[in-house]
Amino acid sequence: MRIPIIAGNWKMNKTEEEALQLVSDLKQRLGEVTGVKVIVCPPFTALFSVNKALENSSILLGAQNMHWEEKGAFTGEVSPTMLLTVGCKFVIIGHSERRSYFYETDHSVNLKVKSALKFSLSPIICVGEKLEERDANKTKEVIEIQLKGAYKELSDQQAEKTVIAYEPVWAIGTGKNATPQQANEVHVFIRKFLSDEYGEEISEKINILYGGSVNPKNSRELLAMSDIDGALVGGASLDAVSFEGIVKSAI
Ligand code: 13P
Repeated sequence: MRIPIIAGNWKMNKTEEEALQLVSDLKQRLGEVTGVKVIVCPPFTALFSVNKALENSSILLGAQNMHWEEKGAFTGEVSPTMLLTVGCKFVIIGHSERRSYFYETDHSVNLKVKSALKFSLSPIICVGEKLEERDANKTKEVIEIQLKGAYKELSDQQAEKTVIAYEPVWAIGTGKNATPQQANEVHVFIRKFLSDEYGEEISEKINILYGGSVNPKNSRELLAMSDIDGALVGGASLDAVSFEGIVKSAI
């Protein structure tokens, strides 16, 4: 049985003060929930304070990116050990915004995934097709290339600790979410990839989240699908009431 995961990707939003206000609201609203793993991924500048604010709460902390090296001359970057010292347990890797605006490739995604695992951070690996790729019937082809890249040289034990987020690029921040059937079809395809690579037992343990315009109105139907094991939420995670609605629809 996979415990659903609802993760909030705050992207480049919330000052430290705003982040603390949101976390305080979330703690009040979600303090008692069980049966679902809740993760918040604030910007780097708020991780330290949010970690302190989350003490004695079941809400877990994640970062939105990291470098694969432990330290060194990489101006502007943040390392996996730095994330560990501020309480991160998860890190989003290869988000489509990083791939398109910051030129991340399947190779750099693979380096980051391996590094995250080496330092006991669970990577939330993002994959997803662009609209023109879907229209050209290339969705599965694109996803397979991204998965092969991300999981290159990963052992069974490593693969088991990963989380995948399927985020069709055309559904991110557009209000156009994939239908539950469209999303689940890709999730089933991803699980088949994992099963072919690592065997059925491991593939059944890996959470595959859906992301792209998830809100409290559409989340229940999406999460009811056979292979949708949670959500990676952008815009709707910035508001405590809507994030609470999504979390509660997963239970
Ligand atoms: P939205 O929920 O704002 O569409 O963003 C999805 C996303 O990119 C989460 O990582």
